[in-house]
Amino acid sequence: MDRFVMNFIIASIIYLGVASVLGVCMLGDESLLALKFVHSHMMLLGWVSMMIYGVGYHVLPRFSGRPLRYPKIGELQIWAANIGLLGMLLFYALGVYNPSDALRTLTVAFGATEALSIALFLYNMLATLLPKAGH
Ligand code: HEM
Repeated sequence: MDRFVMNFIIASIIYLGVASVLGVCMLGDESLLALKFVHSHMMLLGWVSMMIYGVGYHVLPRFSGRPLRYPKIGELQIWAANIGLLGMLLFYALGVYNPSDALRTLTVAFGATEALSIALFLYNMLATLLPKAGH
């Protein structure tokens, strides 16, 4: 298994643990419901998406009988996905307690990095899975 694939899976499991603790805290303290965006996105972009990226990078090329087209893009994606998610959640959470234009801008910038990481996956997977004409 490629290193970046394993890293996606390990990161995903860590996000599951952290987001679950936040979920339990939200159950116990209603004021923490202000962080619902952090919990839900750590679950869905962290736990769920990163597990799918990891398993998908490993399994889908094998199912289709074609090697992953751009492994380097996969290595770049793990950085973009984690930096984007962590930055977005950190600056969102800071902005909940101390709203400012600067924090809003940073949240958007890291959210855009997360979106870029999604685009990298989409491009790499489609380039791998879609047969080229004549092949
Ligand atoms: C230990 C496990 C979990 C706990 C204790 C927990 C707890 C919570 C709590 C307290 C809320 C806020 C509900 C409210 O609005 O009053 C919430 C929302 C949410 N959770 Fe979890 N959760 C857990 C696992 C998960 C998992 C595994 C996922 C997805 C993979 C998930 C996705 C979401 C989403 C998307 C929301 C937002 C729902 C909305 O906006 O209405 N949660 N969770």
